[in-house]
Amino acid sequence: MLELDYVDYVIEQTLTFLKNMPKSKRKNKGQFFTSSNIARFMAKMFDANSFNKNHISILDPGAGTGILSVAFIERVLSIRPDTKISLTCYEIDSDVLPILKNNLEYIRLKHSDQIYYQILEENYITSQSNDFNNNLWASGNPRKYDFVISNPPYLKVMRNSAEALTMSKVIHGAPNLYFLFVAMSLFNLKNEAEMVYIIPRSWTSGAYFKAFRKYLLTNGKIEQIHLFTSRDKVFSSEDVLQETMIIKLRKSVRKLDTVCITSSDDSSDFDSITILNAPYESVVSGNDMYVYLPINQEEINIIKKINTYNSTFVEEGLKMKTGIVVDFRQSGELRKEPGEHILPLFYSHHIRDGRVNHQPSGKEYDWIIDSKPGLIQRNKNYVFIKRFTAKEEKRRLQCGVYSPADFKEYQYIGTQNKINFVDNIDGSEMDTLITYGVFALLNSTLFDMYYRILNGSTQVNSTEMNNIPIPPACVIRKIGEQLLMSNDLSTYNCDRIISEVAYV
Ligand SMILES: C[S@@+](CC[C@H](N)C(=O)[O-])C[C@H]1O[C@@H](n2cnc3c(N)ncnc32)[C@H](O)[C@@H]1O
Repeated sequence: MLELDYVDYVIEQTLTFLKNMPKSKRKNKGQFFTSSNIARFMAKMFDANSFNKNHISILDPGAGTGILSVAFIERVLSIRPDTKISLTCYEIDSDVLPILKNNLEYIRLKHSDQIYYQILEENYITSQSNDFNNNLWASGNPRKYDFVISNPPYLKVMRNSAEALTMSKVIHGAPNLYFLFVAMSLFNLKNEAEMVYIIPRSWTSGAYFKAFRKYLLTNGKIEQIHLFTSRDKVFSSEDVLQETMIIKLRKSVRKLDTVCITSSDDSSDFDSITILNAPYESVVSGNDMYVYLPINQEEINIIKKINTYNSTFVEEGLKMKTGIVVDFRQSGELRKEPGEHILPLFYSHHIRDGRVNHQPSGKEYDWIIDSKPGLIQRNKNYVFIKRFTAKEEKRRLQCGVYSPADFKEYQYIGTQNKINFVDNIDGSEMDTLITYGVFALLNSTLFDMYYRILNGSTQVNSTEMNNIPIPPACVIRKIGEQLLMSNDLSTYNCDRIISEVAYV
C-alpha cells in the first residue's frame, strides 16, 4: 500500500485559511470544515471492492478546501495506485475557492496522468433544478457519479428560497440545505453506487423530514451509520451544537437485511469503535420511515419489543396534545393569586413523582382567569408529560397522572405549553384505567429508552409520540387496572406490570 499524506497538506492550508476568516462569517455560509480523522474515516467507509475499476468518478458538493475529496483520492490511490480519477467539486464561496484550487492542483501535479478535476463555481442545488425534477434514475445527462462524499452546509433556508422551490418534493416543513444536498446527491449517483455524508441527526425523526426520509429510503438503502456517543464533540472547535452522524447509503431499491451501526466516543478516536449489525427493519421502520439509532443489542431488543405493538395513540382514540397557554403572550390573563373566576395553571414543575400537584411553582403566575375559553380546558383525567428535560436528567419521558378529584372545585384548568398531555382525541374524558395505563407506558423504562433511540433531542415531540407503537386499548386498560390496584406509580412497578401484561 502507498503511504500518502495529502490530507495533512490540505489541513495545513485550511488552518492558514481559518486564521484569516472569522467564524461568524463562515457560519453564515454554513461553512464548517471536516477534521483529518473524520475525513479519513469517511473515505474508509466506502467499499474498497468498488475501487476495482480503471476509471472512477467522484462528486464532492460543498467542497470547502477539498479535504473530503483528497481523503477519498488518498485512499483510492493507496489501494489501487493506477486508477484514473475524475473529481467534480461544487463550491460557491469565493473566499475558499483559491484554497480549493491550490489543494486540488497540488495533488493533481503529483499524479498528472491520473487525476482530472473540475470545480463548478455554482450553486449545487439550483444549478441542477431541471434535472432533479425529471428522473431520479436518468443516466448520461445529467452526469452520474460512482461515489459522492460530502459535508454539506448546515443552513436553514426559507420555504420560498430558490433551493427549496427546486426540491419541493422532499420538503415537508422548514428546509435546511443539508438534507437538500443529501437528496440531490442520491440523484447524482449511478445506480447501485455509494455515498457517504456527515450530517446532523435531526432528519432521523420528526415530521419536518418525512418527505425527505421517504425519498431517501425508498430510492436508497442505509448500509452504515456512524454515531458519536459523546455529544457536541465532532465540530467542537466550531461551536456546532447539533448532534452529528455519518451515513453511508447505496442508491438501490434492493432490500438489505442489516445496517452496520458503528459508534465511537468522539471524533478523535476511531481506533476503538463499537460495531453492531442491526436488522434493517429495526433501524428503518413505520409509515413515516423513522430511523432508529440503536448502539447495542439491548437497544435493538427494545425496538423489537415495541415494534411488536401494532397500535398507536391515535388509532386508540387518544392523542398527545401540547399545553395551551404561552405564558409570556398571555400575561394579561395570568394571575398571582387564586380567586373568583381564577383557575390553576399547570407548569412542568407541577409534575412530580408520577402525580400532578399545584404547589407554588416558583413562577410568578400560577393562576389564569377563566374568561377566554380557548385558553382553558376541562378538569378531567389526563396524563401530563414534560416537553423539555435537561440533557443530564436520567429520563426523557417524565410524566404524572392528573387527577381531577385533586382540584374538584374547578370545572376548568390551564396548562402551559411546556407540558404535553394525553387526552381523548375528541375531547371526551379518558377513563381512569386508560389514564393509568397510558401513564404506566410513558413512565416505563421501555418507552423512555425507545424514545431516546428514536429522538436524539431533549424535547418530547407530540407528533412523534402519537405515532409510536403502543398496545391496544384493552391491554392498556389492564395495565392501568393493575397499576391502580398496586397503588405504586414507580417506574419499577410500571416495568413489572408491562412485562407481565404487554410483552408479546
Ligand atoms: C460544511 S462546509 C464543508 C466543507 C468541506 N466539504 C469540508 O468537509 O470541510 C460546506 C461548504 O459548502 C459550501 N456551500 C454552501 N452552499 C452551497 C451551495 N448552494 N452550493 C455549493 N456549495 C455550497 C460552503 O461555502 C462550504 O464551503
